[in-house]
Amino acid sequence: MENKKILVTGGAGYIGSHTLVELSQASYDFVVYDNLVNSSKVAINRVANIIGKDVVFEEGDIRDSKRLVEVFTKYDIDSVIHFAGLKAVGESVEKPLYYYDNNVNGTIKLLEIMKEFNCKKIVFSSSATVYGDPKEMPVTEDMQTGQGITNPYGRSKYMIEEILKDLFISDSSWKIAILRYFNPVGAHESGNIGEDPEGVPNNLMPFISQVAVGKLEKLKVFGGDYPTKDGTGVRDYIHVVDLAEAHVKAVEFLDKNNLDKPLIVNIGTGRGYSVLEMIKAFKKVNQVKVPYDIVNRRAGDVAKIYANPKKAKELLNWEAKRDIEQMCQSSWDWQSKNPRGYSIIDE
Ligand code: NAD
Ligand code: UFG
Repeated sequence: MENKKILVTGGAGYIGSHTLVELSQASYDFVVYDNLVNSSKVAINRVANIIGKDVVFEEGDIRDSKRLVEVFTKYDIDSVIHFAGLKAVGESVEKPLYYYDNNVNGTIKLLEIMKEFNCKKIVFSSSATVYGDPKEMPVTEDMQTGQGITNPYGRSKYMIEEILKDLFISDSSWKIAILRYFNPVGAHESGNIGEDPEGVPNNLMPFISQVAVGKLEKLKVFGGDYPTKDGTGVRDYIHVVDLAEAHVKAVEFLDKNNLDKPLIVNIGTGRGYSVLEMIKAFKKVNQVKVPYDIVNRRAGDVAKIYANPKKAKELLNWEAKRDIEQMCQSSWDWQSKNPRGYSIIDE
C-alpha cells in the first residue's frame, strides 16, 4: 500500500484540474478517476507540467462498480472529492434519464464502494441551482432548496444532497462536505489549463472569450428586462482557483472535525455582477471587442442570485481573493493561448 490518497472523481475536468494543482501545493496525494466524457487527458498532462510531477490517472466511470473496486483496492483511498458529473443544463432537459443515471446513480455507486472500503469522507460538488429562484438575497445555506429548480441537472444536484444527508442519518461516521458553487470562471495563472467546453458554450464567460477571439461572431445577452441594476441577469462569479482552494480547505476541515451533520457551504464571493458588467470588465481588462445583442430571456434563468459566503469564512477559513479583473484576464489568457482548447495532437 502506498500513502493515503484522495480520489478525485472528474479530476480531468475544468474545476477538478484546477483543484489538483491546489491539492498538490498543499502536499496532498491524489488519484484522478475520470471517464473523459467531457474532458481530455491533455488537461492531466498540463497539470503534471504545472505541479512538476506525474499525476496518477485511472480511467473509469463512477457507475462502474467493478472498476471502482479495482481502484480502491490498488490505492489506499482516504477521502473522495467528487466532481464527476454531467453539467449541461439544456442537454439535461433533453436526456433526463442519462443525467439522473450518470449523476445520481453514479454517485450512489461511488458511495456504495466507498462504504465497502470504509472510506467515509467525501466533498461533493453541488450548485447554487439547488436554491431554485430564491426570494431573498444574498442566499444563505439554511434557505429552502429543491423548489423551483428548472431542469434535471439542477434536480440531480438536489437529489444527491438529500441522499448524502440520509446517508449521514444512517451512519454518522461519514464526513460529508457539500459545496454549493456559484458561477466558476477564469483559469490558472499559467494559462495552460482552463475551461474547454465542447461545441458552442452554454455559459457566459466562455462565450465572451470565444467572441473576443473571433471564434463566435456575437454574444447574445439573454434578457434586458430583468428587475436588476441594468436589466440583465446578475450572478456571483467566482475565480476557479479560489474555488479550487475551497476544496483543500474542505478536505482539511473534514480531516480535523467530527461532524453532527453534513457540512453545507456556499462557495461564492458575495458580489453580484450583471451580464453587461461582465462584458464591460472583459473588454477593458483585455482590450478586446465583444459585440453583443440583447435578445429574449433564456428559459429557466433566474434574474439574480449571489451568495452569502460568511459560513465558508467562519468554518473553513476560506474566502474568495481574486477579483473580476483577474477572472476576465485569466479567462482571456487561457482562451488566447489555447484557441482550440485541449484539442491538439502533439501532447
Ligand atoms: P467538467 O465537465 O469540466 O468536469 C466533470 C468531469 O467529470 C469531466 O472530466 C467528465 O469527463 C467527468 N465525468 C462525468 N461523468 C462521469 C462519470 N460517469 N464517470 C467518471 N467521470 C465522469 O465540469 P466542471 O465545471 O469541472 O464541474 C465539476 C463538478 O462541479 C460537476 O459535478 C458540476 O456539476 C459541478 N458544478 C459545476 C459548475 C460550473 O458552472 N462549472 C457549477 C456548479 C457545480
Ligand atoms: N448569459 C447570456 N448569454 C449567454 C450565456 C449566458 O446572456 O450566451 C447570461 C445568463 O442569462 C445569465 C448569466 O449570463 O444571466 C450567466 O449564465 P451562465 O450560463 O454562465 O450561468 P448560469 O447562472 O445560468 O448557470 C449556472 C451553472 C449551471 C447551473 C445554473 C443554475 O453554469 O450549471 O447556474 O444556477 F445549473
